[in-house]
Amino acid sequence: MQIGTTIAQFLADEQRANNTNNTDLLALMGQVATACKVISNAVNKGALSGVMGSLDSENIQGETQKKLDVITNEIFIQTTERGGQLAGMASEEMDDVYDIPAQYAHGKYLLVFDPLDGSSNVDVNISVGTIFSILHYEGSAANPVAADFLQPGTKQVAAGYALYGSSTMLVITTGHGVNGFTLDSDIGEFVLTHPGMMIPVDTKEFAINASNQRFWEAPVQRYVSECVAGKTGPRGRDFNMRWVASMVAEVHRIIIRGGIFMYPKDTKDPAKAGKLRLMYEANPMSFIVEQAGGLSSTGRQRILDVQPEGLHQRVPVILGSKNEVEVVLSYHAGM
Ligand code: AHG
Ligand code: MN
Ligand code: MN
Repeated sequence: MQIGTTIAQFLADEQRANNTNNTDLLALMGQVATACKVISNAVNKGALSGVMGSLDSENIQGETQKKLDVITNEIFIQTTERGGQLAGMASEEMDDVYDIPAQYAHGKYLLVFDPLDGSSNVDVNISVGTIFSILHYEGSAANPVAADFLQPGTKQVAAGYALYGSSTMLVITTGHGVNGFTLDSDIGEFVLTHPGMMIPVDTKEFAINASNQRFWEAPVQRYVSECVAGKTGPRGRDFNMRWVASMVAEVHRIIIRGGIFMYPKDTKDPAKAGKLRLMYEANPMSFIVEQAGGLSSTGRQRILDVQPEGLHQRVPVILGSKNEVEVVLSYHAGM
């Protein structure tokens, strides 16, 4: 009988192949995988466990928190804080850095996460996800401060996302390509199902929230109008459009069958450079996209090179199939 490769076995194999032996990272990734299993279970139970709907509270971005935003944040903390690998955590749902309680051993990694991405979709039973990024703690104080987290995306040690879709998947990178695992609920393990994931370089599918069109800059206006013009326009071919409103689901679709995703800079709110958050959305997803052969940019700069200035900083995002992102970037270059 052929048994599958679990995520723990895969990561051990990957380390051996790269002549590294980082048991702390293996342990931490195992805890993150466990957190995603617990979240998958909570999301799957849906209304049966009374966790649908919103709270009266807002997060630091002024967004009304869903009950599940807070529950999944707590699941992530409880699952990962005791292992001894973490120096601290930060997340979309916490204003400031989370200190590892003094009674637990402190480690050398920082964990940054969006516990429930696309949470507006949870009440309507559409796919949601979890995004995480692992950084080195380079400081020496017992508890890191926000400045310790503000490292460009190129410094990520590992990143990944879980997608709670028609099946639950975990897609990860440690800088050696991108690999996807499907949760086998019979045995409670993520099993390797999508080795060496690569984004097709060409695409005919774009994703953008068109309700913001009047706020877009000229290069994005031009690109989208050329896609919509299809065969009769300058691109000479028809395009298809998708918008799930869960970044994890969009990125996963793009890795599987190609595409371009944009939440670009717009003039909707001059105080916000974009909608998506650099530290726990754009950076981990950009690491994955680049490792899968795609490109990820603000339109003006590679996302992974952006020097973060705040834990909850927003950034414009244009990512996906290499040749198509290059078209959008060429329009920005001509601004
Ligand atoms: P979150 O639920 O973590 O706040 O993130 C939602 C993000 C992202 O997942 C998605 O691509 C985008 O917001 C959707 O934005 P619109 O509501 O403007 O469609
Ligand atoms: Mn999100
Ligand atoms: Mn979220």
